[in-house]
Amino acid sequence: MTKKNINFSSKLVENFITYNDFNISLQQAEQGRQTLLDATGAGNDFLGWVHLPSSLDTEVLQRIHSDVARLKDRCSLFVIIGIGGSYLGARAVIEALQSEFEAMRSKRSFPYIIYAGHTLSEEYYSQLLPILDSNDYGVAVISKSGTTTEPAVAFRIIKHHIEQKYGKEEARQRIIAITDAQRGALHTMAQQEGYSSYVIPDNVGGRFSVLTPVGLLPIAMAGYNIDNLLAGARKAESLYTLLPADENAALQYAATRNALYNKGYKVEMLTNFIPSLRYISEWWKQLYGESEGKEHKGILPHSLCFTTDLHSMGQYMQDGERMIMETVISVASAKAKVAIPHDEQDLDNVNYLEKKSLNEINHCAEQGTIEAHHDGGVPVMKIELEQIDEETLGHLLYFFEFACGVSGYMLGVNPFNQPGVEAYKKNMFRLLGKK
Ligand code: PA5
Repeated sequence: MTKKNINFSSKLVENFITYNDFNISLQQAEQGRQTLLDATGAGNDFLGWVHLPSSLDTEVLQRIHSDVARLKDRCSLFVIIGIGGSYLGARAVIEALQSEFEAMRSKRSFPYIIYAGHTLSEEYYSQLLPILDSNDYGVAVISKSGTTTEPAVAFRIIKHHIEQKYGKEEARQRIIAITDAQRGALHTMAQQEGYSSYVIPDNVGGRFSVLTPVGLLPIAMAGYNIDNLLAGARKAESLYTLLPADENAALQYAATRNALYNKGYKVEMLTNFIPSLRYISEWWKQLYGESEGKEHKGILPHSLCFTTDLHSMGQYMQDGERMIMETVISVASAKAKVAIPHDEQDLDNVNYLEKKSLNEINHCAEQGTIEAHHDGGVPVMKIELEQIDEETLGHLLYFFEFACGVSGYMLGVNPFNQPGVEAYKKNMFRLLGKK
C-alpha cells in the first residue's frame, strides 16, 4: 500500500458477482465519471465539490486560521450549530481524531467542540444551557439555506444566551456565520449583526460541503490540521479524476457496490473496528442515503462498529436475510500501544495474548469476522487506511464523495438533490401553523 493512499479490495465478492458483471459495472462507473467530469448529468449545477480541494481560495484558509487564533484562548467550548451536511462532516473528522475521553481533559489548547441545531429535543437544550452558563464559549452557526428550522431555533436560543452572558458587542465577536453568499435569513442576520462570515459556494450541496468552511472552520477550531486534510483530499482528487478505471479505487468501489445491488444486495453495511470512526459512518450514511435513495431505488446505507456490535447485530450479519453487502474500513496502525499484563495465576485464561498488541488482537477479530461473514453469504469489500490522521481522512472523504457521485449516475438518479426531505417539513410547518 502506498503511503497515505487508501487501498480498496473486492476479492471477497468474487463468489457473488461474476467477472463479467463486474466489468460491465466498471464500464458504467467510467461513464458515470465522464458524466461528472463533463458536467452533463442531472444536478450538474452542484459539482463545485469535484475540484474543490485543488481550487480552494487561500484567503478563506487564512481567515479560518485567524478566526481560530482570535477565539481559541477565549473559548473553552465552541458550539457548532448545524444539521445534516452542515455538521456531520466536521463531527466525523473531529471525532475520528480526538480522544474518546476528550471531554475529561482538564487542559487543552483549543476549545472542546459541542453540537447543537441537529435536534429539537427540549431535553438536549435544557442540559446544554447550564453548560454554557459555566464555560466561556463561541458559536459557529452553519446553514446553506439559512432557513432550516432546527439550526434556526438553536441559534435563536444560543444567540439570546450569549448576548445575555457577554453583552451584544462581545457576543458579536464570538459568533461566526457560515451560509449562502446572498440568500436566507442567516445571511441577512450575519450582515446586519456584522458577524465574521464565510460563504458556502452555490455549487456545493450540504452533504458534499465538508471541505468548505462548513467542515474546515470547526475542524480547525478543534485544533486539527486542515492544510493536511486538504492535502489528502487534493491527492484523492488527482487520483480519482484521472486514474484509469482498472487502477481507480473510487470507480472500483462504485462498480462493485452497484454490481452487488443489481444481484439483490440492497443493504450496504459500513463496518469498522474503531469506535472513533462512528461519525465517519454517520456522514457516509447521509452522503449515500440522501444522494441515492430516490425514485424508490438505492442501496440502503447502514453501519455497525465492531467488535461491539458483533454482540448485538453479529447474529443477523452472520445468519439473517441475505441482502447485505459489507464494506469494512480497516486501519493498519494504532496511535499508541497498550500492553496486556502478565498474570501468574491466569485465572481469566488471557495469558496466551500477552505477547500480542491490542491492535494485533483487534485485527485478528477483523479478519475472523470478514471470513465468517463471507462464509455466511455476505460479500465483503475492504477499504484499508494506513492510519487515522488528517491527510488520510481528507483522502477518505473525497474517495467517498467521488464514488457517490459516480454511483448516483450509475443508478440513474440525480445524486445532488434531496426532494424527499421536504415532506416532513411541510407537515411540521402545517402542524405548527407556520404562515
Ligand atoms: O445535504 C444536504 O443538502 C442537507 O443534508 C443539508 O445539509 C441539511 O438539510 C441542512 O441544510 P442547511 O445547510 O440549508 O441548513
